[in-house]
Amino acid sequence: MDNLMKDIRKVLITREQLQKRVAEMGQEITRDYQGKDVVLVGILKGAMPFLCDLMRCIDLPVTLDTMVVSSYGDNTVSSGSINIKKDLDKDIRGKHVIVVEDIIDTGITMDSLVPLLKKRGAASVELAICLNKKERRERDVFVKYIGFDIPDEFIVGYGCDYAEKYRNLPEVGVLKPEVYVRG
Ligand code: PRP
Ligand code: MN
Ligand code: MG
Repeated sequence: MDNLMKDIRKVLITREQLQKRVAEMGQEITRDYQGKDVVLVGILKGAMPFLCDLMRCIDLPVTLDTMVVSSYGDNTVSSGSINIKKDLDKDIRGKHVIVVEDIIDTGITMDSLVPLLKKRGAASVELAICLNKKERRERDVFVKYIGFDIPDEFIVGYGCDYAEKYRNLPEVGVLKPEVYVRG
């Protein structure tokens, strides 16, 4: 990973740390959802690596679905709500939904999505989020499964992007400032 790593100032979470924590999260979910009809809902694109790893650590017959959502910027009238670019494929009525995300930042995306999924008749909706950037929170969102608390730094990797790149970095790292200054 030398080509990607040359843009990284420091590694925050290693591949091994991710693997270990994700396995624990999978075990917790396996224990908590015995006998329940579970749908994992991955929020693309950021959730992809975490979703792939987490689902293989859950020893239950879960189903998978995905959504693509974007939160409106602060300057629009719709600030604080979300724009669904790709919706779920299947009905979630009566299902136990676990929304899978790479990172929670302001919390606006999840604060809007969770009530929506509940309104659609899900039996329960919980969140499994790999990275928690607590300091940036604007909405009080309950996250049942958190991988790691991280500082408010410009991080990339394990699904998190800068200008759509670095999602495929297998660890979480802090981007060198000259990379995003350069653009
Ligand atoms: C990022 C991230 C979360 C969301 C978190 O997604 O993957 O989905 O932002 O931000 P919030 O807590 O402030 O709402 P993004 O919209 O960049 O799309 P992506 O997953 O395709 O990168
Ligand atoms: Mn995302
Ligand atoms: Mg992004």
